[in-house]
Formats: sequence, C-alpha cells, structure tokens
Amino acid sequence: MKNFAVFASGNGSNFEAIAKAVKNGRIKAHLALLICDQPNAFVIKRAQRLRVRIALIKREDFSSKRDFELKIIEILKENKIGLVVLAGFMRIVGEKLLEAYKNRIVNIHPALLPSFKGAHGIKDAFNYGVKVTGVTVHFVNDELDGGSIILQKEITVKDNDTLESLEAKIHKLEHELYPQAINLIINSKIKLKGRKASVTQ
Ligand code: GRF
Repeated sequence: MKNFAVFASGNGSNFEAIAKAVKNGRIKAHLALLICDQPNAFVIKRAQRLRVRIALIKREDFSSKRDFELKIIEILKENKIGLVVLAGFMRIVGEKLLEAYKNRIVNIHPALLPSFKGAHGIKDAFNYGVKVTGVTVHFVNDELDGGSIILQKEITVKDNDTLESLEAKIHKLEHELYPQAINLIINSKIKLKGRKASVTQ
C-alpha cells in the first residue's frame, strides 16, 4: 500500500475529509502520518479521533529552516512516505523538502490559480467581486502557489453570497476535489509534461 502524509497547521477540515476518503476507499492508499507544526491546532484532535499517527514538529525547536526540514524528511523516510499533501500548512516549503520530494508535494488553494494567490484567496476573490471562483490542487514548487495545476473546479458567486456563504461552498468543494486529486496522483494517473499536468486514461 502506498503511504502518504498530510501536513496541516490549523483547523484540519481537509485533513478530516482526506482521512475519511481513505477509510471509505475513495483514496486507495494509506494515510500514514499527520505532520503538524502547531501544538494547539484543532487538526491534532481530529487525528486522534480518526486514529492517524501524529508527528508534532515545531519550527522553534530548530535553529534553521534547513534543520527543521531535515527532521521532517527523516520522519517522512522512516514512514516510507511517497507523497506529501499540504492542507492548510501555514509555512512556505523550503529548498531541502522540495529537493527531497520533487514533484511529490501537492497543495490545495481556495481560488482559481493563478488568480488570488496567497493566504486569503477566498476573501480576496470575494472582495474583488468575481462572478466565478473555485478551488485548485497543484504541485508545489519554489514559487508561492505557482506549481503545475492538477485539478481545478469552479463555483459561481451569486449576488446574494456573503463571504461566509462563499467560504462554506469553497470548503465543501475542497473536501470533494482534494481526495479525488490525491487518489489520481498517488496511483500515478497524473502525467507531468513541462509545466502541464494532465490526467492519464
Ligand atoms: C483551506 O481553505 C485550504 O484551501 C487552504 O487552507 C485552508 C485549510 O483549511 N490552503 P482546513 O484547515 O483544512 O480546514
């Protein structure tokens, strides 16, 4: 069975959707580990309830980002992790981890990239007044929210939507799209050619 890890720093609703998709067979792989950098994050409670192994690795326990990432890599290797899934991990992935897991780190972004990059994708799109927004799953590279796009799905913003109602729709869509993308990636159904990722038959 293929092993993957989820990295999260906060609430963890995507983590939970992924863990449940593993349990019900929508993702045919083993969620071997949650890596979390925040001791008080709610995602830890979710992992305990869902019986997923937790590694708490705090940045402040290391003198450099390099050492922090080397520790993470050591744990990933010990657990034979083949894919890293970022789900609300509030850190920029550095050189060491990118090198060790080249094209094997994915992220979810709550807007249609390359629009509305950064930490406030839903709010930025809403305040801009877009009529269509959505969710993007992409590979992670050294450019913030800039790696190859794997899957995208759109949502229409209605005139009566509030930021809260849009957030709820985006999160619901994330919880469907991310498990689908992870299952494709981990089962080698995504082909990368140049910067373009496509789904193979
Ligand atoms: C999600 O909106 C995701 O797109 C973004 O961070 C948020 C994490 O939410 N990268 P949660 O912790 O999974 O509930």
